[in-house]
Amino acid sequence: MSRLVIGLLLCAAVVYGKHEQYEGHQLYRVAGSSQEIALLEASLDILSASPAARTASGKLEALVRLSPEEKHAWLAYFDSKNMPYTKVADNLAEIIRDEESQNIEAMSAAKRSGRSISWDAYYGHDEINAHLDELGEKYPDVVTVINAGLSYEGRQIKYVRISTTRFENLRKPVIVIDAAVHAREWVTPPVALYIINQLVVDVVNKRLTDGIDWIIIPVANPDGYEYSRTENRMWRKTRSRSHVGADECPGVDGNRNFDHYWGTSAASSNPCSIIYEGPSAFSEPEIRLIRDVVLRHVERTQLYISLHSFGNMFLYAWGNNGTLPSNGLVLHLAGIRMATAIDKLALDKADRYIVGNAANVLYYTTGTSRDWTRAVGIPYTYTLELPGYEYGFLVPPSYTRQIVTETWAGIEAGAEYILSSL
Ligand SMILES: *[C@@H]1O[C@H](CO)[C@@H](O)[C@H](O)[C@H]1NC(C)=O
Repeated sequence: MSRLVIGLLLCAAVVYGKHEQYEGHQLYRVAGSSQEIALLEASLDILSASPAARTASGKLEALVRLSPEEKHAWLAYFDSKNMPYTKVADNLAEIIRDEESQNIEAMSAAKRSGRSISWDAYYGHDEINAHLDELGEKYPDVVTVINAGLSYEGRQIKYVRISTTRFENLRKPVIVIDAAVHAREWVTPPVALYIINQLVVDVVNKRLTDGIDWIIIPVANPDGYEYSRTENRMWRKTRSRSHVGADECPGVDGNRNFDHYWGTSAASSNPCSIIYEGPSAFSEPEIRLIRDVVLRHVERTQLYISLHSFGNMFLYAWGNNGTLPSNGLVLHLAGIRMATAIDKLALDKADRYIVGNAANVLYYTTGTSRDWTRAVGIPYTYTLELPGYEYGFLVPPSYTRQIVTETWAGIEAGAEYILSSL
């Protein structure tokens, strides 16, 4: 047997063991009112929600994961609430295994071609950090790599500052982008890395660095991200254990941990929920780090985007009550500008982007980065849900090139909008 075949067999064995926990888990699409879907989120694994404007039922729909043990009880519950549902996937473990073997394949293809990183594969936190350091060494005049601090488990969180003026020209606007606050949303770090690439390596539009300073955090939650790579592909939260109940249910939902209407409702105080808000606002070191970076440059920051997966949406404030901020109109217009640029390059099978108030499009949320950044004074702030096609956040690595390319067009349009509105 060739070495390659043995290698593949070993991989297959490892892959099999790791994803066994999702053997027989099925995915269902279930329709309901905003309140009904929000209620599910506190006790079920909701992979994403589709706005009513997009669904055949004309209602909000959630994609949920049901284990074989809990499936019957949940389906009975949906029936009792008159919530229509359909099965969309039979065995989640199978889907995860497919994704993983494609990624192993893609990474070795990239290695063979001698590149440190490719747009066709998902990389680990160490590889991404090494890539950032390389960029810092190669482009010292524009890229500064900052060791911002440690994650709960002690991983170095890095971000890059991109500036042609060393961040010293206080008249330039700043754009802040973060990725992988939610661990399992793997397509978000490549998008962040591609944005860096377009700004400093390929330099496709020099106006965007001449006129704007950028801060990009490609892996905001490295503990969760690594855990999703090595242990549990569906992991969403951080990996902290500083709360009561952490032994059984570690981790906090980073995008419910910001100090904006934190703990007032619409997130969960149950540590086992996927939207657990944490023991206090900013309890998570990773989230404090985003807070500190944002506050350091808050006076001149114009645009903040948190990259998430999935659903093709630009969501803006206020998520906590569904009313609009004072600049609601331009917030919407800038969102449309970005969405339109992306849609122009999108695959035919992709859903067109929806731009709207987070609570109106989906459901109420509290403690989100989008609302908190708006509240501290950044005019344009969004949660950007990238495409998942039929795969959700298990989108195969063969799609990342498409997603990073089209999303860059949206970011470029957003940056141009900022420049033209100064
Ligand atoms: C809704 O929440 C925002 C903060 O997110 C607040 O400024 C506004 O006053 C609230 N509106 C109502 C009607 O409660």
